[in-house]
Amino acid sequence: MNILVAGGSGFIGTSFINKVFYETDYNICNLDKLTYAASNSFSEEIIKSKRYSFIKKDICDANLINLFEKFNPDIIINFAAESHVDNSINSPKAFLKTNIFGTFNLIQNTSQFLSKQQTKNKMNFKFIQISTDEVFGDLNDSTEIYFDEESNYNPSSPYSATKAAADHLIASWQRTYEFPAIKINCSNNYGPYQNREKLIPLVITNAIQGKKIPIYGNGKQKRDWIFVEDHAEALIKIVKEAKVNSKYNIGARNILTNLDLVKNICQILDKVFPPSKNNFLKQNLQSYYELVIYVKDRPGHDVFYGINPKKIERELNWRPKVSLEQGLTKTIKWYVDMIKKEHQNE
Ligand SMILES: NC(=O)c1ccc[n+]([C@@H]2O[C@H](COP(=O)([O-])OP(=O)(O)OC[C@H]3O[C@@H](n4cnc5c(N)ncnc54)[C@H](O)[C@@H]3O)[C@@H](O)[C@H]2O)c1
Repeated sequence: MNILVAGGSGFIGTSFINKVFYETDYNICNLDKLTYAASNSFSEEIIKSKRYSFIKKDICDANLINLFEKFNPDIIINFAAESHVDNSINSPKAFLKTNIFGTFNLIQNTSQFLSKQQTKNKMNFKFIQISTDEVFGDLNDSTEIYFDEESNYNPSSPYSATKAAADHLIASWQRTYEFPAIKINCSNNYGPYQNREKLIPLVITNAIQGKKIPIYGNGKQKRDWIFVEDHAEALIKIVKEAKVNSKYNIGARNILTNLDLVKNICQILDKVFPPSKNNFLKQNLQSYYELVIYVKDRPGHDVFYGINPKKIERELNWRPKVSLEQGLTKTIKWYVDMIKKEHQNE
């Protein structure tokens, strides 16, 4: 099995490639432009393996077909995106280019590639589009009915609007051209290798260095968190078992407010790396929570995301394995080590 991973050097792509490499015998081709968000941190074992290849390329590149013909993928999975909501508010253009045009370009090149394949090779081909729960907009604060696969699209930010546009392109190509796609909408991921601009790494790395921990608005926005390795494991199941034209919402039933999330992180960090033992701090702190400050809310900020994951649980028998406490502890330890290494190298 040959799997082509677009955007494989980013946060979720890294976790996915690690799982594919160590838990299957598939060959992996990672196609990534390596934007500022890419971590591109794979083990020597992966980098040197004949089963792994890396191509530095933009998904907007006109001639992806040449690469597809050379690698001959059975699966194409698209993680490549501009992914930070704040950046999409300040400079949306790159989001339209990569998230909309880039997805269109991948679809076009995939269709051309498939049109040259023999029918038997096409039968099991899957294009998997990785999307987000943010395309559904936000939920009413008091609701207990969360987003499922049939929820209406109602994106609020330029980021989610471009992801929604890509999902609509996929759906229209499925219907009009029988494009063999699967669509995945996942909740907020957290874990190692995420760029520090995102909430959880920002809170951890600021706290360790004694910088303020900014909270948007009143901090009451609710998010549904999933440990990235649980998402990656669900995607492996989808690669192996899901049928073309299916769609799955993925979430781990961990809904909490941003403020409670930050409290949890500070409590764990207080135990893992107590302020009294932290030489990076220039101030005396009892708890990292003392660093919290409230800042002006993000324009158009969604109040509440929540995923109903019943379909993937029922059809593919997938369940998340990592609790929020375990996942946060693992993530915090990873960022503490990273900051320590950075300071050693200075
Ligand atoms: N992080 C989350 O919480 C979350 C939740 C749901 C869905 N998603 C979706 O999952 C996907 C991956 O998210 P992530 O958090 O890993 O993002 P990320 O920003 O960490 O990684 C994106 C990767 O795509 C690459 N890339 C960007 N533009 C490219 C281009 N034009 N051509 C080729 N490569 C390009 C980057 O170099 C990077 O390696 C995205 O599509 C995102 O919308 C993310």
